[in-house]
Amino acid sequence: MVLSLVDGLARKALFSMDPETAHGLTIKALSSGLFPACEPAADGRLAVKLFDLTFPNPLGLAAGFDKNGEVPDAVLRLGFGFAEVGTVTPRAQTGNPRPRVFRLPADHGVINRYGFNNEGHAAMRARLEARRHRGGIVGVNVGANKDAGDRIADYVAGIEAFADLASYFTVNISSPNTPGLRDLQARDALRDLLKRSLHARDDASERVGRKVPVFLKIAPDIDDKAMEEIAEEVLAAKVDGLIVSNTTISRDHLKDSATAKEAGGLSGRPLFRKSTIALARMRKLVGPQLPIIGVGGIDSPETAWTKIAAGATLIQLYTGLVYEGPGLVRRILSHLSKQLDSNGLGHISEAVGANVDAWADVRED
Ligand SMILES: Cc1cc2nc3c(=O)[nH]c(=O)nc-3n(C[C@H](O)[C@H](O)[C@H](O)COP(=O)(O)O)c2cc1C
Repeated sequence: MVLSLVDGLARKALFSMDPETAHGLTIKALSSGLFPACEPAADGRLAVKLFDLTFPNPLGLAAGFDKNGEVPDAVLRLGFGFAEVGTVTPRAQTGNPRPRVFRLPADHGVINRYGFNNEGHAAMRARLEARRHRGGIVGVNVGANKDAGDRIADYVAGIEAFADLASYFTVNISSPNTPGLRDLQARDALRDLLKRSLHARDDASERVGRKVPVFLKIAPDIDDKAMEEIAEEVLAAKVDGLIVSNTTISRDHLKDSATAKEAGGLSGRPLFRKSTIALARMRKLVGPQLPIIGVGGIDSPETAWTKIAAGATLIQLYTGLVYEGPGLVRRILSHLSKQLDSNGLGHISEAVGANVDAWADVRED
């Protein structure tokens, strides 16, 4: 109660600042241990075993919050089952000019056009090396520099650079803020990207003693045909999993119509429906076995459960944290446990895809 009051006051103060400044302060507070740990009581029914990893619970922090790997342990102490750092590119880059992040409070959304501002592989490596023995699942989300001559080579470099430190990799080809990046989702380019990325992973596996799982993160703005092609290529290349989805370039049904005009990727509540439809359709295309991380617009216990029922093996969020604060993590996890009780389920995996047909059939209006 006291904690949620402090949390509420802190959020009010953060909302009075420009969003990028507020984010910088949040990272500082997390890295200086200012946030009280609020790890929820472990519920073994929520633990998810995938590959050689045991996720203590299915809720992770999505990429983009901790772009430089500064606070993965503080994030895990908030109760998240896993943290994804990045997107990191080989060389440091400044990204787009400020302002480049915008809140849409009436919609509970955010638009960002950061453009992969990050400190580069070497800085991220130094931080992850320093925490190497701390445990916890930390995924590394890799991307390409804006001015890269061979974009795919940048993904390969990321996999080579972090193979001994990453619990898993995310190959992010879905940011709308690096011109041309999403062209890598087109069939021929995708085939080449997946082949070279997985080859780099396989090569590194002898050196690091494990086969680091590789997830592909896609945009929600993909038509049915492109979705089918991605599913076919992912299965043919034996990618380990998918993340559905990144932010959207669409601007449907927004109340905050002035801010909606800003260029960039839209996240949060207005993305929930679109990303959940994409998730369910992808789940039907790839079948029940392939792990999929469902992300986009989770900002309540109910939306977390819905995402799992639409086909997500694991889930992530980012924007929900901006509007709800870190208490959201605990609320979601206790709701998932309660849902298992009330549905008579013994494990969270039994809920995955329970409602996939209904979501896959939803027509976007
Ligand atoms: C400010 C901001 C920065 C982001 N940066 C990245 C990024 O660097 N790499 C990435 O893969 N996704 C990035 N994302 C997308 C999120 O990881 C997530 O896919 C998306 O926001 C949808 O989830 P949400 O509605 O819970 O925020 C970013 C999102 C936001 C809001």
